[in-house]
Amino acid sequence: MKIDKKDVLKALEHITVPGEGKNMVESGAVTNIQIFGDEVEVDITIANPSLQARKKTEVEILKVIHREVYEKAKIKINIKVDAPTAKPKVNEIKGKPIPGINNIIAVASGKGGVGKSTVTANLAVTMAKMGFKVGLLDADIYGPSMPIMFDVANEKPLAVNVEGKSKMKPVESYGVKLLSIGFFTQRDQAVIWRGPMASKALNQMIFDAHWGELDFMLIDLPPGTGDIHLSIMQSLPVTGAVVVSTPQEVALADARKGVAMFQQDSINVPVLGIVENMAYFTPAELPENKYYIFGKEGAKNLSEDLNVPFLGEMPLVQSIREAGDVGRPAALQTATPVEKAFEELTKQVVSEVVARNKTMPPTEAIKITTMAGCSPVNKK
Ligand SMILES: Nc1ncnc2c1ncn2[C@@H]1O[C@H](COP(=O)(O)OP(=O)(O)OP(=O)(O)O)[C@@H](O)[C@H]1O
Ligand SMILES: [Mg+2]
Repeated sequence: MKIDKKDVLKALEHITVPGEGKNMVESGAVTNIQIFGDEVEVDITIANPSLQARKKTEVEILKVIHREVYEKAKIKINIKVDAPTAKPKVNEIKGKPIPGINNIIAVASGKGGVGKSTVTANLAVTMAKMGFKVGLLDADIYGPSMPIMFDVANEKPLAVNVEGKSKMKPVESYGVKLLSIGFFTQRDQAVIWRGPMASKALNQMIFDAHWGELDFMLIDLPPGTGDIHLSIMQSLPVTGAVVVSTPQEVALADARKGVAMFQQDSINVPVLGIVENMAYFTPAELPENKYYIFGKEGAKNLSEDLNVPFLGEMPLVQSIREAGDVGRPAALQTATPVEKAFEELTKQVVSEVVARNKTMPPTEAIKITTMAGCSPVNKK
């Protein structure tokens, strides 16, 4: 069987590049094809650096050449990634939906208590350590936890005058600028929020605050996938969402809903990927041992199933919990496996943001909610 280069090119035209609406050949991703008898060697350049994207591209190429050209062809694929995977440079982050705030990343979970806030806090301090300018907006109206996790529970944002307007100044801790709904509510009071009120309060914390220039604003969302999420997501131009899950079935079912929420037409926020938290337990005295208490690789499998990137796994480690409680995120403990794990995770998140911004226009806020006279109802 003589294989023709043209037939290979034609076959590769069946593969579309996500987000570009073009096929792989049109987009210029195919850089070279060589034929040696029944061997085909294809060189590809892709923008998405994740292992999953590379694997997926490889599988698609194998399939399409076997199907369209020659089922017994021996195929070699060389993939080059054209995206920064090493330490990211600040100026590579693009897209400015809100003046000064370059990327808004929402962290959600579906199920409560899976470690959303812990992951968000550690992502934030790790990004700050990497040299990014980071803001963190604690949008958990049911149980704001950032003031405690950052050891600033007794502080209040001050007012500053910016060009004749009074603005809230975020509280700063470990290099992260922080605003939390917890700064404005009393600890023992239950606050009943409705969607529009919550999004109004959050809009104020974004637009009426003096964040300055930020590379990333992380938003710690409340658990669930309710009306409140809809309001928040519709009123802010969120760059992408990170979904946190444990490997447990019940958590995965809710994470699936979380992903579906971001992907529904009325929200349409790109899912940057899924994080598997509490992936396994490692006792401090036996650091090589891994116990898969909640099951193995559940969130990883879910990300493959839903075709969204897998961002990485975080072990269940006592020091992570303790650090949260004492108000100093565990990723700040230098030269520890936990610090390293959060660095890996953060790099993946940043890479996904870079890849997303290369292939898609900024997310538009569907509406900026302005509900004059709306304030939270306090219930004693
Ligand atoms: N990888 C981990 N190792 C050890 N403890 C963890 C880990 N991740 C989270 N925890 C602990 O689990 C508890 C719940 O975590 P966290 O508050 O971050 O979850 P959440 O998803 O934000 O919860 P909620 O839905 O209530 O907002 C906390 O006590 C936290 O310290
Ligand atoms: Mg939380």
